Amino acid sequence: MKLVVASDHGGFSLKQAIVLHLQACGHEVVDVGTNSETSVDYPFYAKKAASMVASGACDRGIVVCGAGVGISISANKINGIRCALCTNEFMARMARRHNDANMLALGGRVLAIPYALTLVDAFLEEPFDGGRHQRRIDQITEMERDA
Ligand code: RB5
Repeated sequence: MKLVVASDHGGFSLKQAIVLHLQACGHEVVDVGTNSETSVDYPFYAKKAASMVASGACDRGIVVCGAGVGISISANKINGIRCALCTNEFMARMARRHNDANMLALGGRVLAIPYALTLVDAFLEEPFDGGRHQRRIDQITEMERDA
């Protein structure tokens, strides 16, 4: 898969670990920053990553900030993005199966790195169930059109 990854300073170390993990798994990774622990603003990085998913340039995206909250809120402002903030494996699997999430948000100050990587794997391997869930996704898309 072609994946875009982004973080602010609060998610930097986890983002670096995610990049290495994804590359080791054979994915193509686009890392749009940030590139250090110097303080930056998460909306800028969320927008960079989310735009690449919304445009189809990347298949899915993974974004990280300290809590995972700010960067997920920001990514979800881009039309077509369904960014799920997950803190456990069940949430990561359901975000794919029921919500067809195209982006995963994680908290770099919330999760230990090895555990966070299990959420990344769950998110990437799980399919979308479709069926009744597609109807709900269509309703979300309609809300974007009406906004
Ligand atoms: C940065 O200090 C922190 O506010 C940010 O990484 C994130 O947790 C926001 O939701």
